[in-house]
Amino acid sequence: MPKSWMGCTFTMLVASVAFASSHATARTDYLHLDYCIIGAGPGGLQMAYFLQQSQRHYLVFERSNLSGSFFVRYPRHRKLISINKQYTGKQNKEFNLRHDWNSLLSHDDNLLYKHYTKDFFPHADTMVHYLNNFTNRFDLKIRYNTEITWIEAEKHPKAWNGHYFYLTDQNDYHYRCSVLLVATGMWVPNTPDFPGSEHVEGYESVSVDPADFVGQTVLILGRGNAAFETADNIVGVTNFIHMLSRSRLRLAWATHYVGDVR
Ligand SMILES: Cc1cc2nc3c(=O)[nH]c(=O)nc-3n(C[C@H](O)[C@H](O)[C@H](O)COP(=O)(O)OP(=O)(O)OC[C@H]3O[C@@H](n4cnc5c(N)ncnc54)[C@H](O)[C@@H]3O)c2cc1C
Ligand SMILES: *[C@@H]1O[C@H](CO)[C@@H](O)[C@H](O)[C@H]1NC(C)=O
Ligand SMILES: *[C@@H]1O[C@H](CO)[C@@H](O)[C@H](O)[C@H]1NC(C)=O
Repeated sequence: MPKSWMGCTFTMLVASVAFASSHATARTDYLHLDYCIIGAGPGGLQMAYFLQQSQRHYLVFERSNLSGSFFVRYPRHRKLISINKQYTGKQNKEFNLRHDWNSLLSHDDNLLYKHYTKDFFPHADTMVHYLNNFTNRFDLKIRYNTEITWIEAEKHPKAWNGHYFYLTDQNDYHYRCSVLLVATGMWVPNTPDFPGSEHVEGYESVSVDPADFVGQTVLILGRGNAAFETADNIVGVTNFIHMLSRSRLRLAWATHYVGDVR
């Protein structure tokens, strides 16, 4: 998994980052790293684990003060839709891992999600706890409270593939990376744009207190997991909930796509 994932991210990045046009400014004040990872979510931590195992020179940059910060805020109603299947009737580890949607890969069986909660659809706080335990257990190298605000690629004859990545953080510290892995997630809200859309409340900020919807008729745009999570929370107090989307409802068990409605 890590190999192909890494290749893919890297190619994307090369395509989208502009090469600095000149070497006019001599770069000296940077920390050099063989591997830089941006983001200490599950993706960044998994990469860090394998780099650490193979004794590579790497560092993870995370703007938050802990690992897995996505799960501090999301999902808003705090119930994960990734299943924590503890029993499969099988001894085969690979088989069992495929049914455990939350554990990261490691050599330590104590870091299986089933040791963190017994719930089939776990509370999101258990993910935060898990990811931070994972970080500590393997002593992963993470620089917290560090937001990468600028990335440039610059040609360099000594770089293994002809260029280095130069990263800048919010405190204006610089890093030079031979390989850059971007694991910054999907947290940016997908904001609709149509006449009247300024009146819409986004999933990222809508109230999660059912008391705020008592006796109301609610229109939810979307029929995915976030929409159903929101509807489920207020179904007991509303007059009526309308749900609209471009396509028919797609259920994960039917489509076999984990992003469809659980
Ligand atoms: C509403 C919603 C609900 C979801 N529910 C589930 C669920 O129940 N179960 C599940 O398995 N998956 C769920 N997902 C998918 C989930 O987002 C991913 O499984 C998981 O968070 C992806 O991990 P990641 O490491 O790719 O990204 P993230 O977990 O988002 O981690 C990215 C990290 O990068 C950091 N970062 C971003 N930009 C910078 C920067 N410039 N500099 C430094 N750090 C930066 C962020 O602070 C963050 O810590 C959900 C997604 C959404 C949108
Ligand atoms: C992270 O910051 C929050 C609030 O800013 C604080 O409550 C929390 O204790 C901090 N956590 C860690 C692990 O430093
Ligand atoms: C998380 O880590 C702490 C400290 O390493 C440990 O004491 C605790 O048992 C771990 N939690 C779980 C659920 O394994």
